[in-house]
Amino acid sequence: MTISDIRLTPREVAAHLETDELRQLVGLVEHDDASDPFPVVAMDAVVFACGNATQSMQYFVSTWGMTLVAYAGPETGQRSHKSFVLESGSARFVLHGAVDPKCPLADHHRAHGDGVVDLAMEVLDVDRCIAHARSQGATILEDPRDVTDQFGTVRLAAIATYGSTRHTIVDRSRYDGPYLPGFVARSSGFAARPGKPERLFQALDHAVGNVEMGRMDHWVRFYNRVMGFTNMAEFVGDDIATEYSALMSKVVANGNHRVKFPLNEPAVGKKKSQIDEYLDFYGGPGCQHLALATGDILATVDALRAEGVEFLKTPDAYYEDPQLRARIGTVRVPVEELQKRGILVDRDEDGYLLQIFTTPLGDRPTIFFELIERHGSLGFGAGNFQALFESIEREQAARGNL
Ligand SMILES: [Fe+2]
Repeated sequence: MTISDIRLTPREVAAHLETDELRQLVGLVEHDDASDPFPVVAMDAVVFACGNATQSMQYFVSTWGMTLVAYAGPETGQRSHKSFVLESGSARFVLHGAVDPKCPLADHHRAHGDGVVDLAMEVLDVDRCIAHARSQGATILEDPRDVTDQFGTVRLAAIATYGSTRHTIVDRSRYDGPYLPGFVARSSGFAARPGKPERLFQALDHAVGNVEMGRMDHWVRFYNRVMGFTNMAEFVGDDIATEYSALMSKVVANGNHRVKFPLNEPAVGKKKSQIDEYLDFYGGPGCQHLALATGDILATVDALRAEGVEFLKTPDAYYEDPQLRARIGTVRVPVEELQKRGILVDRDEDGYLLQIFTTPLGDRPTIFFELIERHGSLGFGAGNFQALFESIEREQAARGNL
């Protein structure tokens, strides 16, 4: 099998993505599905529980340039909660918000705040995947079942993962409705300001989970066993972790790397770990960040800043470090253009990537987004952990505070 054999989903075709473009955007590799115990077609959706899904929908449409495509709620017979479905390229977000105060979503939001409840994946054979997951000891939250409406039938099941997060798996090969049975097509009247790029991101690159100290390897093995995911080369070990970032990280991915799940755990560092802060405020393990792939991170960052999105600041010392300049070599724009926007660079043997992180999306210091533009690199920016924290310390030292 070669990369060109990767089957685009109907949604990716509709979004005018091409295989080579997707390969570049999210770093796809060759893979033979035949020996895969849990073959995954693609991410199906990232499902959020929101305190106010109606307003979050407007935020994702107006600020993040997403397209509203489907809806379910009291008007369509779903009395307990509203659900909005948004797309950007091959990425799909689903936002749920409680209408009925007795809806379990209201309790979930009270406990966790806004966050990701489901990282749904599209598969070809739900029953085969669930049989394998069950044989490996996974908790099956929902057994395979058909759900039908006038657009056809989907087959769905759900597997528990870290915290209160789940993986719905769905076979939608016999379905052509706007999302799932019960949803109706819906669009937004929003008109983007002139000159704003039509789409700010094309695909989901990776979804990161934060788990408790000492639990990272448990969840790595869970994905190895239950979904046949393999470990990617990149990891952040305790040498970098304890000195700078106070986290450790490993990455698991499905065969062709369409689905990539980095897993973080706190490490004992100089300061309180950012992972501990997340666990305190989310109330346990959960999704820390979603990386959104873009082909032009400079234009995307400029458009998002114009809408008021805030990003983590990168100290000038990061860009002025001769070691960093030597490490990153030549990238597609002058380093000054990156510095102006605070965009980070990392390079490995396969190429380089550009990345930047937003501040938390909601009130709690929990979920945030990353933007990523890949040029061959299959990494996640581990080189930036050390470079960024060292440069912060250099600035601290310059102020006489280290
Ligand atoms: Fe990331």
